[in-house]
Parts: sequence; C-alpha cells; structure tokens
Amino acid sequence: MTIRRVGKGCGEKELFLTKAVLIIFWFTATFFSASTPIVLAQSSEASSCVTCHSDIWEEVKESIHGRQNISCHNCHGGDPTAKDKESAKGPNTGYIGIPDKKKIAETCGACHANVEVMNFYGVPTDQLARYKTSTHGKKLFLEANTKVAVCSDCHGYHDVLAITDPNSSVYPLNVPKTCNHCHGSEALMKPYGLPTDIFETYKKSVHGIALFEKKDISAATCVSCHGSHGAVPPGVKEISSACGKCHVNEKKYFLESMHAKPMAAGRFSECISCHGNHGVERASNDLYRTTCIKCHEKGSSEEKAGETIWQVFHQSGEKLKAAESSVKQASIEGIFVEEETGSLEEAKTNVIVMAPLQHSLSVERITELAAKFSEVADKITTQIHQKREALKWRKTALIPIWVFILAMAAALWVKYKRLKTERKKNQPNKTNREGEK
Ligand code: HEC
Ligand code: HEC
Ligand code: HEC
Ligand code: HEC
Ligand code: HEC
Ligand code: HEC
Ligand code: HEC
Ligand code: HEC
Ligand code: HEC
Repeated sequence: MTIRRVGKGCGEKELFLTKAVLIIFWFTATFFSASTPIVLAQSSEASSCVTCHSDIWEEVKESIHGRQNISCHNCHGGDPTAKDKESAKGPNTGYIGIPDKKKIAETCGACHANVEVMNFYGVPTDQLARYKTSTHGKKLFLEANTKVAVCSDCHGYHDVLAITDPNSSVYPLNVPKTCNHCHGSEALMKPYGLPTDIFETYKKSVHGIALFEKKDISAATCVSCHGSHGAVPPGVKEISSACGKCHVNEKKYFLESMHAKPMAAGRFSECISCHGNHGVERASNDLYRTTCIKCHEKGSSEEKAGETIWQVFHQSGEKLKAAESSVKQASIEGIFVEEETGSLEEAKTNVIVMAPLQHSLSVERITELAAKFSEVADKITTQIHQKREALKWRKTALIPIWVFILAMAAALWVKYKRLKTERKKNQPNKTNREGEK
C-alpha cells in the first residue's frame, strides 16, 4: 500500500518533470536553430571548389574557419554546387576572384561585422569599424593606399588561427614580428618617413625582454600601446591611457604631480617624456639625472627636487638591503627572527609603494613615507642587535659553567686514574688472600 502510494506520487512527478524538460528542450532547440551559424549551410567537403582546389583546402581545413566548414565560396563567392569551372564562377554567382586589398576588409567584414553571424561564436564584431578609424584603415579607404595593413596582413587568410593559439600571427609573442614585416622594411617605410628600427629598439626594451626572453605575455607588445584594429599612433592624450592601462599606480600618482597641468595643455607627454616609447628601459635612479635636465635647468629648484627624491628613495633602498641582510645573517647565527621577518615584509611594502609614489614628484610625501619606512627598518636592526647581545651574554654566562664541568671532569679523571693504579698495586695480595681463604 505504502509502496504503491509512493509509486503513484513518483509517476505524477515524473510526468510533470518530463513535460518540463520537454518544454525546456523545445525552447532551447528553437533558440539555437534560430541562431545556428548561417555559414554552415553546406559541407565544404561536398563543394566543387574544394574538389578542384583540394591543395588549398588542405590548408584552409586546419584554420579556424575550415574547422567550422567555412569554405572557398564563403570568401571568394561562386557557386559551389556547379560542376564545371565556368558555371562555378559565372556572372551571377557573386564570384570575386582574388580580392584586392580594399575588398579583403569587406570580405572578412561580411561575417565579422555581422552580429547575426558572429553572435553564435561570441566573437566581437567591431574590428572593421575600428579598423576604419586606424591610420591603416583611413589610408586604405580614404587615400587608396594599398601598402598599409589589412585584415589578412595581420591574420593571414587561408591559415587564420584563433587569437589564443600560440601559432597565430597575432598571438602576443608573434605580434612584433607580424608588424615588423612591413615596419622593418626600408623600401616600404621610406615614402612615409617612418623609422624601420622600431622592432630592434623594442626587442631591447624592458617590455621586449619580458616578452621574448621571459615569455611574459602581460608585457606591452606593439598592439598593447597602439591598439590592434585602431592602430593609430597614440597622441599626447592616448598615450596616457596606453601605459596607464597596465601601470595603474604610476599613472595615478603622475596625475597628482605638477606635470599633469602642462600635459593637459599639450606641453608634456605623460610617460614618454621621461621613459621614451619603444625603448623603455628598466627604471633606475639614473633617470633623475638624465631626464629632468631635458626640460629644467641644471641647478634649478625642479632639478633639485628630483635630486632630493632620488636621495630619499636611494637611501631607503640601501636601508632595506641592510635590514634584509641583517635578518638573514641573524637567522644563520641561530637567532630567533620571526618578528623581524614580519617587520621586514612591512618595510618592503613601504618601499614597493614608494616606487610609484615617486611619480607624484612630491618631496613631502616621499619623505613622509621614507620616515615611516625608516622607523620600521631601524626597529629591525635595533631588535636584532639586542637579541645578538642577549645571545652573546648567555654564551658568556655559560663559560664558568663549562669551566666548572671541565674541572669536575678533570678531577674525576685524575681520581679514576689513581684508583686504577692502586687497584693494580693491590692485585697480587688480593689473590693470595683469596688462596688463603
Ligand atoms: C573544375 C575545377 C574548378 C572548380 C569547380 C573551381 N575552380 Fe577555381 N580555379 C580552377 C583553376 C584550374 C584555376 C586556375 C586557372 C585560372 O586562373 O582560371 C582556378 C582559379 C581560382 C582562383 C584564382 C583566380 C585568379 O584570378 O587567379 C580562385 C580564387 C578560385 N579558383 C576559387 C574558386 C571557387 C571559390 C570555386 C567554387 C565556387 C572554384 N574556384 C571552383 C579550377 C576550378
Ligand atoms: C577566410 C576567407 C577565405 C577562405 C575561406 C578562402 N580564401 Fe582564398 N583567399 C582569401 C583572401 C583574402 C585572398 C587574397 C590574399 C591576398 O592577396 O593578400 C585569397 C587568395 C586566394 C588565391 C590566390 C593565391 C593565393 O593563395 O594567394 C586562391 C587561388 C584562392 N584564394 C583560392 C581559395 C580556395 C580554392 C579556397 C577554398 C579551398 C579558398 N581560397 C578559401 C580568402 C579566403
Ligand atoms: C594591424 C594588424 C591587424 C589588422 C589590420 C587586423 N587585425 Fe584583427 N587582430 C589583430 C590582433 C593583434 C588581434 C589580437 C587581439 C587584440 O589585441 O585585439 C586581433 C584580433 C582579431 C579578432 C578577435 C577579436 C576578439 O576579441 O576575439 C578578430 C575576429 C579579428 N581580429 C578580425 C579582424 C578583421 C576582420 C580585420 C579587418 C577588418 C582585422 N582583424 C584587422 C591584429 C589586426
Ligand atoms: C563566412 C564568414 C566568415 C568570413 C568571410 C571570415 N570569417 Fe573569420 N571567423 C568566422 C567565424 C564563424 C569565426 C569563429 C570560429 C570559431 O570561433 O570557432 C571566425 C574566426 C576568426 C578569427 C579568430 C577569432 C578569435 O576570437 O580567435 C579571426 C582572427 C578571423 N576569423 C579572421 C578573419 C579574416 C582575417 C577574414 C578574412 C580574410 C575572415 N575571418 C573571414 C567567420 C568568417
Ligand atoms: C602590410 C604592411 C603593414 C603591416 C603588417 C603593419 N603596418 Fe603599420 N603601417 C603600414 C604603412 C604602409 C603605414 C604608413 C601609412 C601612411 O602613413 O600613409 C603604416 C602606419 C602605421 C602607424 C602610423 C605611423 C604614423 O605615425 O604615421 C602605426 C602606429 C602603425 N602602422 C602600427 C602598426 C602596428 C602596431 C602593426 C602590427 C600590429 C602594423 N602597423 C602592421 C604598413 C603596415
Ligand atoms: C610601450 C608602448 C609602445 C610599444 C610596445 C610600441 N609602441 Fe610604437 N609608439 C608608441 C608611442 C608612445 C609612439 C609615439 C607617438 C608620438 O610620438 O606621438 C609610437 C610611435 C610609433 C610609430 C610612429 C613612428 C614613430 O616612431 O614615431 C610607429 C610606426 C610605431 N610606433 C610602431 C610600433 C611597432 C611596429 C611596435 C612593435 C614592434 C611598437 N610600435 C611598439 C608606443 C609604443
Ligand atoms: C600591456 C601592459 C603594459 C603596457 C601597455 C605598458 N607596460 Fe610597461 N611593463 C609591463 C610589464 C608586465 C612590465 C614588467 C616587465 C618585467 O619586469 O620584466 C613593464 C615594465 C615597465 C618598466 C620597468 C619597470 C621596472 O621595474 O623597472 C617601465 C619603466 C615601464 N614598463 C614603462 C612603460 C611605459 C612608459 C609604457 C607606455 C609607453 C608602458 N610601460 C606600457 C606592462 C606594460
Ligand atoms: C618626470 C619624469 C617621469 C614621468 C613623467 C614618468 N616617470 Fe616613471 N619613473 C621616473 C623615474 C625617475 C623613475 C625611477 C625611479 C627609480 O627607480 O629610482 C621611474 C620609475 C618608473 C617605474 C618603475 C618603478 C615603479 O614604479 O615600479 C615604472 C613602472 C614607471 N616609472 C612607469 C611610468 C609610467 C607608466 C608613467 C606615466 C604614467 C611614468 N612612469 C611617468 C620618471 C618619470
Ligand atoms: C618634457 C619636459 C619635462 C621633463 C622631462 C620634466 N619636466 Fe618638470 N616640468 C615641466 C613643465 C612644462 C612644468 C610646468 C612649468 C609651469 O607650469 O610653468 C614642470 C614643472 C615641474 C615642477 C613644478 C615647478 C613649480 O614651481 O611649480 C617640478 C618640481 C618639476 N617639474 C620637477 C621635475 C623633475 C624632478 C623631473 C625629472 C624627474 C622633471 N620635472 C622632468 C617639464 C618637464
């Protein structure tokens, strides 16, 4: 009875659940069939283009497009159901042959600027629109300059890969080379008066070294600063957002400095006035010696402010090093330094904060932070000194004890020796006495 009741209840529940699942299925199916990729109307293997051009298909097949069955006619037009060449490329088939540069942007854009097509894949559709705002795009569309980069110059065409594929020409590690194809070419750049050593300069910069040697793809590549599709030379305003995108704190403090005003007036370029662009080097104190005097007189109050900040930062750095080695040495000596290690972390944090804070160029703020840091660093060295003294004292206090122990040991030894010789002397008598018994 009980079992049946439960069974019946289950049956109703099951029926209800099945209905619900069916309804969900129906909605899902309708939703997805509505947004099914338009381009997948026909299998590329069955296309006559592929039959005749099997060699090219071999390459296309492995691309991100080929894997979605996007095929020859999707880019070149033509009728893939026609059996012979003439009707496949007849006048009413939309066949475009090999697209010229201007056509390429439109060919790729036919899908990539089409939300209906791309939505399904979750790929943004702003590339063509943004490309048209870039130096490359403007020159191509407004001046018919076909030497500039178009989609296929950066991405390839038959062999396009996902941007996250390490073999893709636009994967961060490969971007500089992709740009350098043209920007390193004397013949191509000469008419525009553009330099051709950008790649070489970049390679030796702190960013280039991070990218190529440490394979650190968070380092700036050409497109991090210039944009990929809006590849324009950043002007005075844009450059600030280019570096500040990654160096957030430096930017924040820079905007609080006295250079923010001349920058707003167009008399100062946020970061590159001091760091340069393609050849950004690892920052060092030398920068104060070399950059400030580019605009301020030697001996001026501005230069002196730089010199003071340099001194304060430099001294803090030295003090940190001293505190670090003091803690290390102490722990080697067996001094218990848990508390000092904690304080050292605090001190390090202060110096880390101080690095970007330099960009405020505020002597007061730097000095204030340095004083705070100094207090912690001094506390570390003082405490370690005290602990070392205490240890020394304990060691000294042990000397008399050791002396006493050694003296006792020596006395015992002497006593032992004496007893032994006495026993030897008495030995024959002892046997005699035993014999007597
Ligand atoms: C019956 C075989 C055949 C079929 C079908 C065929 N092609 Fe071709 N295609 C050729 C040959 C051969 C050439 C090279 C000779 C030429 O330029 O006409 C060629 C050349 C091309 C070229 C280069 C044109 C140029 O100006 O150099 C493109 C692009 C092309 N085909 C695309 C397609 C597309 C797209 C389809 C399907 C709609 C297709 N082909 C169908 C045989 C074929
Ligand atoms: C994603 C778009 C796309 C697909 C898919 C595609 N092509 Fe192309 N193809 C291009 C573009 C763009 C060019 C011109 C590149 C240039 O000149 O810079 C081109 C060039 C060509 C050329 C000229 C020779 C060459 O290799 O540069 C031939 C022939 C050709 N395609 C045939 C085909 C055939 C056949 C297929 C199918 C197997 C195919 N294409 C698939 C975009 C595509
Ligand atoms: C100057 C080189 C260059 C040109 C020209 C260019 N791209 Fe790109 N594209 C890139 C780079 C680099 C990326 C990598 C991601 C990034 O940094 O935006 C990219 C990313 C993409 C993506 C992936 C976007 C995403 O966020 O998933 C698509 C799609 C794309 N490009 C299509 C195009 C089309 C279409 C054109 C032509 C209208 C074009 N690209 C022109 C360099 C270029
Ligand atoms: C017929 C429509 C169509 C055409 C034409 C087309 N693409 Fe695509 N493309 C797609 C689709 C769909 C995807 C997404 C595939 C996927 O995510 O698996 C894609 C992906 C890409 C990606 C990778 C995006 C990413 O996020 O990794 C790049 C880059 C790209 N296409 C560049 C191009 C270029 C360059 C051209 C022109 C030579 C072109 N496409 C022409 C449909 C097209
Ligand atoms: C197919 C060749 C080619 C490729 C690839 C190429 N460019 Fe260009 N680029 C040009 C040409 C040509 C110009 C000059 C246009 C002019 O000034 O009329 C130019 C101009 C520029 C400019 C503007 C320079 C100025 O001050 O006038 C920038 C910035 C730029 N490219 C960045 C890039 C970046 C970044 C890449 C790689 C993601 C890249 N380019 C890839 C050909 C190319
Ligand atoms: C760290 C940011 C950054 C990186 C990385 C970078 N650029 Fe630049 N680039 C700039 C700035 C800033 C300018 C100067 C703009 C100005 O003076 O108005 C510039 C200028 C240019 C110019 C114009 C000519 C010139 O020298 O003034 C070209 C072309 C160019 N870059 C291409 C490239 C290429 C190609 C790469 C990669 C090899 C690259 N850039 C990497 C920031 C960068
Ligand atoms: C895409 C992010 C990104 C952009 C954009 C960027 N950088 Fe960097 N930058 C980094 C990374 C990551 C490092 C660390 C490299 C390392 O330490 O190996 C770095 C390092 C540096 C350093 C050396 C720091 C040190 O510890 O000495 C300086 C200076 C610098 N960048 C300045 C700039 C300037 C100026 C710009 C703009 C023209 C810029 N960066 C744009 C990511 C970026
Ligand atoms: C007025 C000149 C000047 C300007 C403007 C400037 N810097 Fe610096 N920057 C320096 C000096 C000097 C140092 C070296 C400090 C040291 O290590 O002694 C430095 C150090 C750095 C460092 C390494 C130290 C740290 O903060 O970690 C980075 C990164 C950096 N700058 C990025 C930037 C960025 C990004 C901008 C633009 C928002 C910028 N700088 C603007 C002068 C400048
Ligand atoms: C590209 C040129 C340039 C460089 C490089 C530069 N400055 Fe300046 N600096 C200016 C300009 C412009 C002003 C604003 C002067 C004004 O408002 O009349 C200024 C203002 C100042 C002021 C405020 C002066 C006042 O009395 O208000 C100080 C301090 C200063 N700079 C320090 C430095 C230091 C330190 C460096 C090096 C780390 C440096 N500057 C590098 C151009 C530069």
